[in-house]
Amino acid sequence: MMRSLKSVARERLPAPIFNMLQSAYHRVTGPNEHYVHEYGDRYEFMRKAFTTLSYNRIEGDYAEFGCCGGVTFRIVHRLMAKYPYGVGPFHMWAFDSFEGLPPAESAIDEHPIWQEGNFAMAEEDFHKKCKAAGIPRNAYTTVKGFYDKTLAPAAEGPRPMKIRLAYVDCDMYSSTSAVMKFLMPRLQHGMILAFDDYYCWSSEVPSGERMALAEAFGPENPDWRLLPYVQFGWAGMSFVVESAKAVNGSHNAHW
Ligand SMILES: C[S@@+](CC[C@H](N)C(=O)[O-])C[C@H]1O[C@@H](n2cnc3c(N)ncnc32)[C@H](O)[C@@H]1O
Repeated sequence: MMRSLKSVARERLPAPIFNMLQSAYHRVTGPNEHYVHEYGDRYEFMRKAFTTLSYNRIEGDYAEFGCCGGVTFRIVHRLMAKYPYGVGPFHMWAFDSFEGLPPAESAIDEHPIWQEGNFAMAEEDFHKKCKAAGIPRNAYTTVKGFYDKTLAPAAEGPRPMKIRLAYVDCDMYSSTSAVMKFLMPRLQHGMILAFDDYYCWSSEVPSGERMALAEAFGPENPDWRLLPYVQFGWAGMSFVVESAKAVNGSHNAHW
């Protein structure tokens, strides 16, 4: 009963109202079991990833593409505050439209759950969530706007140059494709790329994040390879980036 009411509400209500009602519902009923498991799994993935990166002396910032909600962002801060993962300077970057998902650019972006405006959270509310989680304002930078603009080579403003962990949680093929174009010139051997929606597809289209990643690491980019790392949650997958020079004769075998 509850599930069908939920899908009707999702269909009929504007996304920000639906999101607000959903959070209010969870506040009243308590955290649902699914959420608790997913949160725990993501936390555990991040713990492993930052330990690996620290052990291997991989330096650079944390960049999250699709940060609204602030769940993953807060996990990263919590871990960095709790454990001595420090290898070199560390800053957190939050890339988001702060207006929710963009419209689909092509059929491959289409998914019944991913509608324009879904997951919208105002930038101010994101800052409030970060503050409540104890994240100092100077520990992170938000970059507001749609990726076709903010991740374009000519985009103005500060951007991370060295990244140790990139967390891609923007669901759609076109969004992930823009993220990958931004990340390719910033790759470093040993960094980790994580995709929150790697196993998300619909009855008609394949996983947009997977497609965009496969294209980025296709034959025209022979300098880099991907080593499958940790699978997390029900849809997430991560990879370690390797320099092809360092791994002679190997190939991207996972697709
Ligand atoms: C599922 S939410 C992210 C959840 C977040 N990682 C968390 O832990 O709470 C997906 C986000 O991706 C953002 N997004 C997707 N495509 C985008 C694009 N092309 N440009 C900017 N933001 C985008 C949406 O605004 C949305 O906030």
